[in-house]
Amino acid sequence: MGKLAITGGKPVRRKPFAPWPVYTGEEMQALGRVLRSRNWGGYPFPNQVANTFARKFARLHGAKYGLAVANGTVAIQIALRAAGLRPGDEVIVPAYTWEGTVAPIMLLNAVPVFVDVDPDTYCLDAKLIEQAITPRTRALLPVHLAMRFADMDEITQLARKHGLAVIEDCAHAHGGRWRNKGAGATGDLGAFSFQSSKLMTAGEGGAVITSNLEFYERTQTYANCGRASQTDKFGHRFVGHNYRITEFQAAILDVQLKRLEKQAKVRRANMAYLERRLQGTPGLGFLKRDPRLTRVAAYQYVFKYLPEHFDGASRAEFLGALEMEGIPCDGLFYEPVYRSSLFPIDPQDYPALSWGRKEPLDLRGSYHCPVSERAAYVEAVWLPHHIFLGSRRDMDDIADAILKVCEHIDEVRGLKHPAIVQKSMSRAERPRVERRQY
Ligand SMILES: Cc1ncc(COP(=O)(O)O)c(C=O)c1O
Repeated sequence: MGKLAITGGKPVRRKPFAPWPVYTGEEMQALGRVLRSRNWGGYPFPNQVANTFARKFARLHGAKYGLAVANGTVAIQIALRAAGLRPGDEVIVPAYTWEGTVAPIMLLNAVPVFVDVDPDTYCLDAKLIEQAITPRTRALLPVHLAMRFADMDEITQLARKHGLAVIEDCAHAHGGRWRNKGAGATGDLGAFSFQSSKLMTAGEGGAVITSNLEFYERTQTYANCGRASQTDKFGHRFVGHNYRITEFQAAILDVQLKRLEKQAKVRRANMAYLERRLQGTPGLGFLKRDPRLTRVAAYQYVFKYLPEHFDGASRAEFLGALEMEGIPCDGLFYEPVYRSSLFPIDPQDYPALSWGRKEPLDLRGSYHCPVSERAAYVEAVWLPHHIFLGSRRDMDDIADAILKVCEHIDEVRGLKHPAIVQKSMSRAERPRVERRQY
């Protein structure tokens, strides 16, 4: 029997952490109001509760207009379409992100161009963008993740220079600010997700924000089966889809919005405390904080586990042991999308991959983004945001558990244990064994 819980020792923690999502009687009352109104969704569009919520949400981020939609994936698709993306256009995306950032590009029969991330932030490395720009490039799609932002100064400057649209994927950045401007409001459009694991949630949901009326009208038309937008100043007519949100979802989100900053403060303080406790531990690394990031959106807390310092004990071994100590954690949270098990590409399904080429573009074989690959397969550790909604005691448990596993890492090197196997499983396989997706 060892010291670690995974080898038979006593776990640091047996208690569950703060539950997620959070709800109170306020959500119940809001849902009751929608139920009794008999206006549950559909028309008018944007519908009443959805419109009220989307306006507040846009205002909070410093944008003029907001549209609440069905989920974050379609929010990106809508934003791309509103920005005028056409089949065959290229969109620059970070390699290290959720597949839902990239799938909308493919669905519009456009071509994703993967660029590596910055090792200090795990966000799109702005220094590498220019060399990926071609005459077909139409848009830049940075993703703000790991509690960091992509360098929006550099990105907007490049976009201006090359005449490109900027769409910010803010699925992890609700309430975050770059130079005091809200996430999604520095670029031309911002797309958000309200899926279960996000900082605000109605189970599913999404939003697009912009300060450009023409783009806003296009988002409405595209998300509402091609119908005219409310103001219809620009008279756009094109085929759209039904990407509307229900009034029930919007009612929940409207309540969640009121809690966003209060919860963020608790998380930020707890994350700062945890980081102070872990700083200086040999073999652990931390992302850098850019002073232009004036408000951190405290989504998943990310740090680095450096196996070289632990005689090669793998991240899966570290994480399996940490989970058994009672701390929910993840490593293969994202993969470089071009290598992802969730991204099998048949070029016949995506004709633009073959346009102007003898052979279809091989998205899997054409890329090697070393920082993204290292983050995905070697070092990145993701801790879910809800565990930071609790007390200092909770943070001490997390820190104690991490330090304990680091100290006794010899016990897990080479160990075959289901918790370790699970931590190294491909993401296509994991839903079979995971109760939750976050
Ligand atoms: C970075 C990123 N982009 C896009 C999405 C897509 O959002 P949704 O799951 O609401 O479709 C998500 C969330 O899952 C995400 O994390």
